[in-house]
Amino acid sequence: MKRHTHHSETKTVRGAADLEKKNGPMSTPIYQTSTFEVADNDEQLRATHTDHFYTRYGNPTNTVAEKTIAVLEGMESALTFASGMGAITTTIMALLKSGDHIVAQRDIYGGANKFLSQWLPKLGIETTFVDTTEYEQHARAIRPSTKLLYLESPTNPTLRVVDFKKVAAIAMEHNLLSMIDATFGTPINQHPAEFGIDLVMHSGTKYLAGHSDLICGVVAGRHELIEKIWQTRTTLGNCMDPHASWTLIRGLKTLAVRVARQNENALRVAEFLSEHAKVRSVHYPFLKSHPQYTVARQQMSGGGGIVTFEVEGTGEDARRATEAMRLFTLAPSLGSVDSLVSIPVLTSHAMVPAEERAKMGVTEQMIRLSVGIENADDLIADLEVALQAVAARQQVTVP
Ligand SMILES: Cc1ncc(COP(=O)(O)O)c(C=O)c1O
Repeated sequence: MKRHTHHSETKTVRGAADLEKKNGPMSTPIYQTSTFEVADNDEQLRATHTDHFYTRYGNPTNTVAEKTIAVLEGMESALTFASGMGAITTTIMALLKSGDHIVAQRDIYGGANKFLSQWLPKLGIETTFVDTTEYEQHARAIRPSTKLLYLESPTNPTLRVVDFKKVAAIAMEHNLLSMIDATFGTPINQHPAEFGIDLVMHSGTKYLAGHSDLICGVVAGRHELIEKIWQTRTTLGNCMDPHASWTLIRGLKTLAVRVARQNENALRVAEFLSEHAKVRSVHYPFLKSHPQYTVARQQMSGGGGIVTFEVEGTGEDARRATEAMRLFTLAPSLGSVDSLVSIPVLTSHAMVPAEERAKMGVTEQMIRLSVGIENADDLIADLEVALQAVAARQQVTVP
């Protein structure tokens, strides 16, 4: 009989659970310990490469989170980190050395941009930024020293969608490693590994944890790559606390249902905004007007929970609109069950120089919504009030 493969909805809940296990605790135990006792020194030597040695090296609770991520991403192995930035910095430091070169999309999270453009040069690693969806530019930027193609999709905050087939082909042709920040895509809406991307990374702080109560990061890939990253993680000390891992495992159990609801709500919100007189533009992968709509439909099963739009007005109008919202809470971050709102030039991209932001198309009028699981009509009503506040302000200020 053909072996049945579980779907993502099942993997999030039962990913690392041993389904044959009997009489064990239903909830994953938290191994809240820094170290592990051994019977003798021979056992001590055998333990060093296991999750029963010292928690900076590994911990059984972390292992459950890591196995669940690996199963979900369809990868051999995965690692957890103290933050999403920890996952990005540790992975790149593990796999590249002085003299190596990176080709990276222009549209990426501001913190990743800062690491690539301001920190890695200190270690002798240079990055060339290329237009996110101009693939000839990616190929032209490759040098003999290029080792990594650094990707993000959908992008923060402009929601451009990268064609996985095309970037995987470029990486393969030039013998580069490919790494994608798939935070916005979630392992429910997309599976970059199926297209041949080598490493899939998430800020687990966002959708994976899902409740604005945790900072963490994850990377999934082949054993051989994950082993190198593990060596570096133990040296840099960028590990996750076991209690935090438990919170992540708990969050993952509802990932599929949360994302399904967020996909639905976000599409409703995007459609509402796209017809509003006080809205200049709307970015959402599953809107027909999106420039990569066809690719998004082919490689994603949902458009995701983020909607970015520009108000018809000034940066000041955008600030007032976000302050007038009540259900969308003014806070950085995203991916939570609660709807959040932020202005990228003041938050996720505040550290990116204005000139570079302009090239990314990140404007002062831009507002990023992280749509939660509330009722969509309530969310739309909240946005309507906020946009009316913009209209009222403009009537007062324009003579
Ligand atoms: C797309 C993306 N990648 C990475 C990060 C960094 O993650 P963390 O805040 O968990 O370090 C963020 C944070 O906002 C993000 O939005």
